[in-house]
Amino acid sequence: MTGTKRATLLLVFCAATTSSLYSGTKELGTTAPQAEQAASSSTQTGALSFEFFKTKVQPIFLKNRAEHARCYGCHVLSNRIFRLELLSPGSTDWSDEQSQRNFQSALEVVVPGDPASSKLLLHPLSPEAGGDPFHSGGRQFASQNDPDWLVIAEWVRGVRMGISESAPQTLTRVYVTNSASDTIDVIDPATNRVVQVIHGIELPHGIAFSPDGARIYVSNEAENVLDVVDRKSGEILKRVALSDRPNNLAITKDGSQVLVGIRAQPGVLDVIDTTSLQKVKSIPVDGAVHNVYVTPDGKYAVSGSIENKAATVIDLQSQQMAWEVKFNRPVRPMAFETNPDGSTRRIFVQLSAFHGFAVVDFAKRAEVARIKLPDQPGGFGIAEARGGVPSHGIGVTPDGKSLWVNSTLSNAVFKYSLPDLKLIGHAALPEVHPLGHAPTGAVPEWIAFTPDSKLVYVSDSAARLVSVIDAQTLKEVARIPVGEVPKRIKTLVLR
Ligand code: HEC
Repeated sequence: MTGTKRATLLLVFCAATTSSLYSGTKELGTTAPQAEQAASSSTQTGALSFEFFKTKVQPIFLKNRAEHARCYGCHVLSNRIFRLELLSPGSTDWSDEQSQRNFQSALEVVVPGDPASSKLLLHPLSPEAGGDPFHSGGRQFASQNDPDWLVIAEWVRGVRMGISESAPQTLTRVYVTNSASDTIDVIDPATNRVVQVIHGIELPHGIAFSPDGARIYVSNEAENVLDVVDRKSGEILKRVALSDRPNNLAITKDGSQVLVGIRAQPGVLDVIDTTSLQKVKSIPVDGAVHNVYVTPDGKYAVSGSIENKAATVIDLQSQQMAWEVKFNRPVRPMAFETNPDGSTRRIFVQLSAFHGFAVVDFAKRAEVARIKLPDQPGGFGIAEARGGVPSHGIGVTPDGKSLWVNSTLSNAVFKYSLPDLKLIGHAALPEVHPLGHAPTGAVPEWIAFTPDSKLVYVSDSAARLVSVIDAQTLKEVARIPVGEVPKRIKTLVLR
């Protein structure tokens, strides 16, 4: 079990050689996985380990894997590029010499250190999971989480092993609120699997974490409450009454207060004290609140209003409105860019009926630019009846180097460099295939990142998926099935 998890980490954070995430979660720290022991016991000279190949990888080619023919059955033929030795009569395993020849043949179909370019991993992998379009031997591996696939990937990555020993332990989870259900899915980015489902909150919307990770706070649109949940058990500890129907929420940097945006005119932020778990105040803002944020330096809250087309900045010290920016269109999600000292430099603001975002200079307290997303790719969003919200979901990576913007019309997420706002490219999102109709889009809703800024998570609300995108290659590396209409997603990091 632990070995498998570690192997997955190696896969997911492949480029994160010095990342604090590399050694994985708290659960992983205790025992050294077998695979790694095998690898480190053989001498690593930059080449791939024969020992590891022989003891861990080769058995996969021989074993009966559910519903699949064995690799051995077909790859003993001499016209295969990836060629396995015929077993000697009566023997169930290869000799050392034969293994050496298998090893040499396998080396022909891998790029050491780079599983993503290695035929041995791509050819038998399902196309839906990133594999080649067709393999005569079938979709031997349904996903990049297949334990056997991960063992081969670990071998291919071998040259980078042994770096992780002293990295600090981190727990990272991506939370997904399924806005049309009563569940929250919790994803472990090391395996890109749902590892916990929190039940019992109907129409869960915004989510925030206490700084120690003990509790999560969820705005509940069905009952107009803030649900306080014990993170580990998923048990609802308390439901705090709100002044009206909530939308998104944010937590102050010190964790002492949760600010809940109230989706009713004239517009307030309900302030919930996290010690007493009571609503202690409602701060007036300009218009019913859609989303609310706390700036990265913790000094301000910013609420956006659809009805009043305004972004209101609240000084969290005085808990009063400090200034605001008015737009010609309703205000949707926002993202924040910081100065080197951590203070807020710019806010990127999505607007209704605008395929792009506005740029607000925080010091000038004014909109200074409006960036339109490319028209291509296009063709989505109309059948889905989402033309009025062409772009929903925006985020600045934790390293502050790029801005990611969802597009419903393009069925894609665009990447811009920061601070120059240069378009880098886009990653396509999954399509939905309505029976008897042309494919439609995923209707992306929100964006989150791993703390090393290497993976981007996008909630595909129409596809009931979360797409995981490699921030460097702009390729989808996983699709995670989640609940009905996934919307807000947020990353919890415990160090
Ligand atoms: C039913 C027969 C069959 C099985 C089972 C099979 N393969 Fe293949 N494989 C093929 C054929 C045929 C090709 C040639 C290219 C093609 O048609 O896909 C191929 C191609 C490949 C290639 C590309 C290099 C080459 O030799 O052309 C790799 C790598 C590969 N297979 C790996 C595997 C692995 C790993 C397994 C087991 C997990 C496996 N295959 C199981 C038939 C099979």
